[in-house]
Amino acid sequence: MTFYRVIQHHLEEFVRYFKWVLISRDEFERLKRVEADTLTDIQRAARFYYLQQMCFGGRMDDRPAFGYAAVRGPKLNLLRIEEQLSAAHLRLARTYIECLPYHEVIKRYDKSTTIFYIDPPYWDCENYYGKGKFSREDFNVLAELLGRIEGKFILSLNDKPEVRKLFSGFTFEEVEVPYTCSNGKNLKSPELLIRNFE
Ligand SMILES: C[S@@+](CC[C@H](N)C(=O)[O-])C[C@H]1O[C@@H](n2cnc3c(N)ncnc32)[C@H](O)[C@@H]1O
Repeated sequence: MTFYRVIQHHLEEFVRYFKWVLISRDEFERLKRVEADTLTDIQRAARFYYLQQMCFGGRMDDRPAFGYAAVRGPKLNLLRIEEQLSAAHLRLARTYIECLPYHEVIKRYDKSTTIFYIDPPYWDCENYYGKGKFSREDFNVLAELLGRIEGKFILSLNDKPEVRKLFSGFTFEEVEVPYTCSNGKNLKSPELLIRNFE
């Protein structure tokens, strides 16, 4: 939200920060070492954007790693910053943004006309987005909740026997998803699309 507020109120200064900036592993590591609370909000937003765009898989956990690829240029395009931010803004302009546990969101927005796309942490990766946010037990809660909603849902998860067992009452579709966090290597991982309609 600091990042978004800075974009809203200080866009020119934010963009100016990137003038003559280079994409380098050394700069990435230097920015990682900077203590965020020693910076102004604008500097924090610029540091966040640089690290988030340039880290492997967009993962801003406690140890982001420099993302690079032999087959394409860096994700952070210094010549297209405003364009990229503007595209994100246009996408969000007609959207409600909630900050609630998944079961609250599902209950609030469930109507016979609703279609939910549900993209939870993968099975066996429950802690990937922070400890205590989502647990193995949450898959049971989710399955039970989805069994009694009025609307439709599409849920994407990794294709595991435990997942198939837990959601066995619903329709499955197997898909192969190119795994983008693979440094340009064309890895594919099997995924399941689970839904409550044909
Ligand atoms: C696989 S990611 C979704 C990625 C998103 N669809 C995208 O394309 O950027 C799983 C998301 O679930 C969120 N999450 C984890 N536990 C949650 C909870 N208890 N309630 C709501 N969201 C949760 C995580 O913060 C994370 O953003």
